[in-house]
Amino acid sequence: MRFPDDVPVLTDGRVTLRAHRPADLEGMYEQCIDTDTQRWTSVPAPYSHEDAAAFLASRADVWQSGDAWPFAIESPGGSGPSRFSGSVGIRNRGSGLGEIGFGMHPGVRGQGVATAAVKLLLDWSFDFQGMHTVGWEAIEGNVASLRVAWKTGFTFEGQTRARMPQRGRVLNGWRGTLTASDSREPKTRWLDPVALADGRVRLRGLGLDDEQRYLQTNADQESLRWLGNIAFPRDSQAFLRHHARRCVGSATGSSVEWVIADPDDDRYLGTVNLFGFYSLDYQSAEVGYRTHPDARGRGVLQAALRLVLGHAFASADDGGLGLTRVSLGAGDGNVASQQVARSCGFTETGRDRQCYELYDGSIVDLVRFDILASEFATRRC
Ligand SMILES: CC(C)(COP(=O)(O)OP(=O)(O)OC[C@H]1O[C@@H](n2cnc3c(N)ncnc32)[C@H](O)[C@@H]1OP(=O)(O)O)[C@@H](O)C(=O)NCCC(=O)NCCS
Repeated sequence: MRFPDDVPVLTDGRVTLRAHRPADLEGMYEQCIDTDTQRWTSVPAPYSHEDAAAFLASRADVWQSGDAWPFAIESPGGSGPSRFSGSVGIRNRGSGLGEIGFGMHPGVRGQGVATAAVKLLLDWSFDFQGMHTVGWEAIEGNVASLRVAWKTGFTFEGQTRARMPQRGRVLNGWRGTLTASDSREPKTRWLDPVALADGRVRLRGLGLDDEQRYLQTNADQESLRWLGNIAFPRDSQAFLRHHARRCVGSATGSSVEWVIADPDDDRYLGTVNLFGFYSLDYQSAEVGYRTHPDARGRGVLQAALRLVLGHAFASADDGGLGLTRVSLGAGDGNVASQQVARSCGFTETGRDRQCYELYDGSIVDLVRFDILASEFATRRC
């Protein structure tokens, strides 16, 4: 391996980026046989020591060519004497454009090493390589990668269709960019479905085990009647896609979805979501809900809605969202939904006339409700 003389060493005191070394080989092999590396990257499968050796041997040539700047990552918990912790690099597209890629050894994940390594490389590429814009792409569903991109200041730009190559197939992806003048801090608030509970219901994030009852809820006649023209998942493939994408709303600070679960057996009972965060201060949002047919008429939704409103109106210091207002819309004639809204303290504020198309093709008014934080605090909701 003969690297150019000017391969830099970049460090923040804990995490160091340096040229790859032969001593990194075993750590690199361990990283690439790991399930998450296989799932989210295009490394060969099965992966062999020969693959690791070939990758290592090619690093010096890549540096010589100027096509990319690949670094090994070293950190205190890294593998073996070289403390190999992963790899990070930027592919040079010319004209100040680059694409970042990173992968960690499983032994150091979740300790902020990727985030630190990405920041070190971004700073160096903007300051010393004249980069203007760095792009990030990940296979759809790779939450850990999305989280690293979010934490280092990338702006999420959307979902791509069948553009991510992986061992002979092309998968859906996510992409984002960071420009030289952007801060390396999150651009949005990450909204998590934090766990909420009272004696009656438990609220949590969506899991793969919820599929059957989630789909039953969306396919039920009453749900179809009122929500049938909204593109909720109605088959297994759509459910899996929705599950993979659920954290996009969290990362962009635009929506958050809770599952209403039975406190005894964790059975899916329904969904409550907050969406349409209106202002830059995220002070107002809309709520939507639906319950499984066998959970209706038991006060389950009212209990869940009260928990969500309590969280929505609680201050950030108390772990809440600090909203001042939550609104909702219900189709004219949807008596059950409107009754839930009223019993939870919402006020009817008006109607959007003839704007809501039902599943049977008829068009009705959307009755508008809202509730203010001050009202939630004083009304017996
Ligand atoms: C993606 C990857 C590089 C992240 O490495 P890492 O060392 O765990 O990264 P960091 O510790 O700096 O940050 C990871 C963040 O993601 C979060 N995270 C990880 N998995 C998560 C999940 N399933 N859901 C939500 N957040 C998750 C962590 O909690 C952490 O956030 P926090 O510090 O705010 O708690 C690592 O998981 C990896 O090597 N994966 C396989 C290869 C890969 O996917 N590479 C990226 C290809 S685009």
